[in-house]
Amino acid sequence: MLFELTEEQLMIQTMVRDFAQEVVLSTAMERDRTKEFPAENLRKMAELGLMGMMVSPEYNGAGADTVSYVLALQEIAYACASTAVVMSVQNSVVCETIDRFGTEEQKQNYLKPLAAGEVIGAFAMTEPHAGSDPVSQSTWAKRDRDHYIINGTKRFITSGKNAGITIVTAKTDKTKRHKGISAFIVRKGTPGFSVGKTEEKMGLCASDTTDLVFEDCRVPAEDLLGQEGDGFKIAMTALDGGRIGIAAQSLGVAQAALDAAASYSKEREQFGQPIAKFQGLRWMLADMATELEAARQLTFFAAANKDSGKKYTMQASMAKLFASEMVNDVTAKALQIHGGYGYTKEYAVERYYRDARVFTIYEGTSEIQRVVIANHLLGDRYVGTLR
Ligand code: CAA
Repeated sequence: MLFELTEEQLMIQTMVRDFAQEVVLSTAMERDRTKEFPAENLRKMAELGLMGMMVSPEYNGAGADTVSYVLALQEIAYACASTAVVMSVQNSVVCETIDRFGTEEQKQNYLKPLAAGEVIGAFAMTEPHAGSDPVSQSTWAKRDRDHYIINGTKRFITSGKNAGITIVTAKTDKTKRHKGISAFIVRKGTPGFSVGKTEEKMGLCASDTTDLVFEDCRVPAEDLLGQEGDGFKIAMTALDGGRIGIAAQSLGVAQAALDAAASYSKEREQFGQPIAKFQGLRWMLADMATELEAARQLTFFAAANKDSGKKYTMQASMAKLFASEMVNDVTAKALQIHGGYGYTKEYAVERYYRDARVFTIYEGTSEIQRVVIANHLLGDRYVGTLR
C-alpha cells in the first residue's frame, strides 16, 4: 500500500474480520440457497457500528474514515457478498447522502435510526427505461401546498423490500434536464408507496432487489433533500462514494476466490502431484494476485483522496471499473482451477462467480465508469493523481 494503516484502521479490520469469519461466513452458503435477508447479522453489524460507519457519533455513526470503511466492507464481502451490498448501500449512498445534504431535522429523523442500523435504507433512482441515463427518468413529483405527490416506478432497488427509509429521485420540472430532478426521503408505509416485483437474480441472492411503486404518494415538503432541482447532483455525489463501496466489495470477493483457489490447488492432486505444481496454474494464481493487488491500491487511493477532502470522482470510477472487472476475471479463474467441482454448489467459488457478475453493472456499468473517466481526462475536470 502507498500508506501505512493507522492503529485504529488495523483494529477495525481485525474486529470486522473476526466477526465476518465467525458469524457471517458460516451461513453464507445457506443464505444463498434460501435467499433469506440477513436481518439478524445486520443487527449484529449495527452493534459493531458498521451500518453508519462514516457518520459522526452525534448522529449514531461510528465516525470512521473511508479507508476503515473499505477495510470493513472487504471483510464482510469476503464472507458474504449479499450482506456486503446491503452494508454498502446503507453506508454510502444512503447515510452519507443524508449526512451531507440533509437538514438537521432530516438527520434527527432519518440519519440517526439509519446510522444506528435500526432501519435499512435504499436509494431509488433507476427505472425500467432509465438505467445508465438517469436524466431520462419519468417518475415525477408535483408540489401540492405542504406536500409533494410522487408518481412512477423505480427498478432494481437494492433492499427495496426491507428498507424503512428510501431516497427517491423524481422530476419536479419536466422542462429541465438534470436540473429538473429532485430527491426525496420516503418512509415505508407512506400511503401510495408500495413494493413491486422482486427480481429473481443469478447472484447476491440474499439481498432483495425490487421495484418500488409510487401512486399519488404524498410526501411532506420537509422531506425534500436539498433544494428542488438538486436531485441529480445529489445522486451523482452519492454514487461517487457508492462506487468506492462496490470496489471494496469486489476486493473482498476476489480475495475469497483467490484464497479458495490457492488452497484447492495445493490439495488437489492430478498426474501424481498437487495441481499447484503445474506452471500453468501457478501463473494463473500469480496473475490473479497481481490484479487483486492493483485493484486494492486503486480503491484505497480513491478512499484516501475522499478522506483528505480531495476530488475523487475519477478515482472512484477507476477503482470501481478496475476492481469489478478484476473480480470477474479472478472468480472465473478460481472456478476453472476447481475444475468440475467449481461448477457445483459444494464449493463456494460457484457463488463467488455468480455474485461478482453484477459488480460491473450496478452503481454504474463499466462503460459508464469509462465515460466518467474520459470526461475528466478530456475536460477541465481532470484531476491528476500523484503528478
Ligand atoms: N458529482 C457532482 N456533480 C456531478 C457529478 C459528480 N460526480 N457528475 C456529474 N455532475 C454534474 C455535472 O457537473 C453537471 O452539472 P452542471 O450542469 O451544473 O455543470 C450535471 O451533473 C450533469 O452532468 P453530465 O452532463 O455529465 O450528466 P450526464 O447526463 O451526461 O450523465 C453520467 C453523466 C456519468 C453518465 C451519469 O448519468 C451516470 O452516472 N449514469 C449512471 C447511473 C448509475 O450509476 N446508476 C446506478 C444506479 S444506483 C445503484 O445501482 C444502487 C444499488 O441499488 C446498488
